[in-house]
Amino acid sequence: MRVLIVGSGGREHAIAWKIAASSKVDKIYCAPGNAGIEEYAECVDIKAMEFDKLAAFAKEKEIDLTVIGMDDPLVGGIVDVFEKEGLRVFGPRKNAAILEGSKAFSKDLMKKYNIPTADYQNFDNPEDALAYLENAKYPIVLKADGLALGKGVLICSTLEEAQDGVKTIMLDKQFGESGNCMVIEEFMTGREVSVLSFVDGKTIRTMTSAQDHKRAGDGDTGLNTGGMGTFSPSPFYTKEIDEYCQKHIFQPTVDAMAAEGREFKGIIFFGLMLTADGPKVLEYNARFGDPETQVVLPRMKTDIVDVFEACIDGTLDKTELEFEDNAAVCVVLASDGYPVKYDKGLPVRGLENFSGKHGYYVFHAGTKKDEKGIVTNGGRVLGVTATGKDLKSARANAYEAINWVDFDNKYYRHDIGKAIDEAN
Ligand code: AMP
Ligand code: GLY
Repeated sequence: MRVLIVGSGGREHAIAWKIAASSKVDKIYCAPGNAGIEEYAECVDIKAMEFDKLAAFAKEKEIDLTVIGMDDPLVGGIVDVFEKEGLRVFGPRKNAAILEGSKAFSKDLMKKYNIPTADYQNFDNPEDALAYLENAKYPIVLKADGLALGKGVLICSTLEEAQDGVKTIMLDKQFGESGNCMVIEEFMTGREVSVLSFVDGKTIRTMTSAQDHKRAGDGDTGLNTGGMGTFSPSPFYTKEIDEYCQKHIFQPTVDAMAAEGREFKGIIFFGLMLTADGPKVLEYNARFGDPETQVVLPRMKTDIVDVFEACIDGTLDKTELEFEDNAAVCVVLASDGYPVKYDKGLPVRGLENFSGKHGYYVFHAGTKKDEKGIVTNGGRVLGVTATGKDLKSARANAYEAINWVDFDNKYYRHDIGKAIDEAN
């Protein structure tokens, strides 16, 4: 089989590694890819939003399966373009990717189908939003409706902050067109858990749980980032909670999308908050999480290509997912200054130390190859994942392995997975 992956981050590196492990696959391409993905795939210089070029490439190379890693192309309708050309592709169509592409849509869907989530109101103009805020309870959460690189959520402690937030999102349009519409939502407290799942339109199979660390600094301080590290499984996501979520959140979401004529095939990523009133949905994503994928796939035993095919063919009910009874921790190595301002082009040393080390992975998030070799090319540079028999040993292994690789200005959080100590 010949497979094309669309994307260029640590998530796509992990997907490429997992696809390469399938006995069915002879050749992998990745567009545009990165310096790490090159180990498994031939990287092609086509951008993720160049749908026609990508489809033409897939035809020319007789690609049997294309896997879309990123949200922008999915929300933009890449799957529809590929399907129209008769190409096999894994991911939701545009009318289903809206589950991630519009927070107002997803909130209305949850309300209509009684899926537990925070109370909210949608607004399409700043005057109504500002009037609503006068009598609201604080803290309160403001969300730009559309995609905003994970940055379109503002948690506001006071009326003044919230008024500024409305200005940022709807008037100054800091997140562009994403801010044409806005959700104002009740602030929830609790543990956050990410649950990724495969969906074939009717059947859903969830993967093992994970938890992300979104803030830049130790102790969950500093700015929000794309994710500074993850661990899997989450000790807070118990069997009991899983049963509740399967019944009240996961299957109902798949059924709701089907009932709306928006059959969902692909990955649904459930961002959950475990509140005192039970688990509630924080957000949906229509793709693998980054860096959740970097801890979930190294624990997955099932051939991922079989699962992709089952989703496309609608036969997921005949497929069981299997995961190792172990744990994984991923520590992101960033360039100091991320997510605001940071240098690029710094040589990366020591990558070879990972070769042949079972249970250790270095996934590239932002790297490229130049005349100096592999250099940094983004704020998040690498994700170092290690497995272990439990979270504690996976964590120790990951923090050992981050010393094997180096670049100037290397920055990382010291407390990825530390919350697990509280659980034990
Ligand atoms: P989202 O992109 O919707 O997941 O939001 C990003 C982050 O903002 C989440 O991971 C939470 O930490 C936080 N957040 C979002 N919605 C809420 C909420 N209703 N209450 C508390 N925190 C929230
Ligand atoms: N780690 C959060 C995300 O992928 O959106």
